[in-house]
Amino acid sequence: MNVLILAAGKGTRMKSALPKVLHPVAGQAMVERVVRTARQLGTSKNPAHLVVVVGHGAAAVEQHLGSFGELQYALQAEQLGTGHAVRCALQQLADHAVTLILYGDVPLIQVESLKPLVDAAAQGQVGLMTLHMDNPSGYGRILRDAQGQVVGIVEQKDATEAQRAITEINTGILACPTAQLTHWVGQLNNQNAQGEYYLTDIIAMAHADGVPIHTAQPAHAWEVSGVNSRQQQAELERIWQLHQANALMAQGVQLLDPARIDIRGTLNCAGDVSIDVGCVFEGTVELGEGVRIGPYCVLNNVRVAAGTRIEAYSHLQEATVGAQAVIGPYARLRPGAQLADEVHIGNFVEVKNATIAKASKANHLAYIGDATIGERVNVGAGTITCNYDGANKHRTIIEDDVFIGSDTQLVAPVTVKRGATLGAGTTLTKDAPADSLTVSRAKQVTIDGWKRPVKAPKPAK
Ligand code: UD1
Ligand code: CA
Repeated sequence: MNVLILAAGKGTRMKSALPKVLHPVAGQAMVERVVRTARQLGTSKNPAHLVVVVGHGAAAVEQHLGSFGELQYALQAEQLGTGHAVRCALQQLADHAVTLILYGDVPLIQVESLKPLVDAAAQGQVGLMTLHMDNPSGYGRILRDAQGQVVGIVEQKDATEAQRAITEINTGILACPTAQLTHWVGQLNNQNAQGEYYLTDIIAMAHADGVPIHTAQPAHAWEVSGVNSRQQQAELERIWQLHQANALMAQGVQLLDPARIDIRGTLNCAGDVSIDVGCVFEGTVELGEGVRIGPYCVLNNVRVAAGTRIEAYSHLQEATVGAQAVIGPYARLRPGAQLADEVHIGNFVEVKNATIAKASKANHLAYIGDATIGERVNVGAGTITCNYDGANKHRTIIEDDVFIGSDTQLVAPVTVKRGATLGAGTTLTKDAPADSLTVSRAKQVTIDGWKRPVKAPKPAK
C-alpha cells in the first residue's frame, strides 16, 4: 500500500521558526509519529510505501525524517490546496496498490482506526474517516442522500445554512484505489470559495462513478485532532499522556496521580510498579517487578530491575540498575552507569561510564567516572575519581571489599587492590596494595601558645 502524508503547510499560528509538523507531541515530532504509525500498516513482506508531501520547511522536515530511510518526498512548492498536494505526489505512488492519505499535523491517529479504511479501499471502495461533532464549525460536512449513502463533502466556506447544520464532519483521512485517485485528482478544479484544489471533491466524483463510499469513525475523537497552535499542541499532549497513564494503570501500575506523569517514549512496567508524581520518562524505560519511583525523577533510556527504589529528584540517563538497589534522593546516573544488584547511590552522587558491582555503596557527594568498582565497596563522602587530565580520560579500578575514606581523590589511571583501605583525605596517585591502609596526608601538627591575629585598630582621623 501507499501512504501519503501531507505536511506542506506553514503552521503560521504556531509562531515558530520550526516547521509545524516538526513540533513534538510526547517528545516526538508530529510527522515522525505519523510516519511510525504508517509503518505499522505494512508487513515485512509488504512494507508500506511512504511519500511525504513537503513544502514549507521542506529541507528541515526531510532532514528530520532522513534517518528513517525508505521514505520518499514530493515537493509542493506552493500550497494550492489538499487536492493539489496529492497531485504533486501522484507519480510516486505504486499504481496497483491502495493509497491512504494522512496528515503530518494529525499526530495521534492509531493503526486500529485506519484498518477499516484500508480494507474498504482494498475492495475497490473509498474508505472515508468521519466524525460526529457537537460543534462542527470549520470542518467539511459529509453529504448523504435519502438512503444514507455518502454523495459528497462540502467545505464550511462553501456550505449552505442547511449544510452547516450537518454534524458529521470530514476528518480528511481517506483511502482508495490509486488508479482511481489519480483519475479523480486529475479532474479537480479550484472553482470554490477558497480558490483551492479540494481533495474533498473526489468524494462526489467517486459517487458519480458508482464507487461506494464506506465511512468509519476513529476509536477516539482525539485521534483525528489536528494541531494548528501551541494551545492545541498542549491539549493533545495532555490527552495522550492521560491515555498512556490509563493504559499503565489498566496493566496494574500504581500512579499516584495520572495527571502528573509524562511519558515521551515507551515505558514498560512489570507488576506492582509504583510511580509518584512529576516523573518524566524518555526513550525506552523498563521497570522491573515492584520498582518504586519517587517524585520528580527523570529517566531516559534506563533499565531498572526488580525491587529497586529510585528516590525523589533523581536523574538517570542511559543507565542500568540491578535489583534491590536504592538510588537517590538527588542522584545522577549518566550514560554508561551500570549498577549491579543491591547497590546504593545516595544524594549528590554522580556516576558516569562506570560499573559498580553487587552491594557497593556511595551514599553521599561523590563523582564516579570511568571506573570499575567491585563488590561490597564503600565509597566515602566527597570521593572523586580524577578521570580527566585535561586531554584524555583514564580509568579507576577499585577491587572487591575496598573501603575508601571520605574526601579522597583517585588520580586515574590507578587501581585500589582487593580489601585495601584508603585513609580519609588521601590523594591516590599510585596503586594501593591489597588488605593494607594507604593514606597520603600532611602530618598533623599543633603549635603551642599560638595566638589568633587580632584586628588592627582604625587609624584616628
Ligand atoms: C481539510 C478538509 C476538510 C476537513 C479538515 C479536517 C479539504 C479541502 N478540506 O480542511 O474537509 O474537515 O481538513 O481538518 O481538504 N496541506 C498541504 N498542502 C496544501 C494544503 C494543505 O500539505 O496545499 C496540508 C496542511 O498542511 C494540513 C492539511 O493538508 O496538514 C489540511 O489542510 P488545511 O488547509 O488545514 O485543510 P482544512 O481547511 O482544515
Ligand atoms: Ca486544518
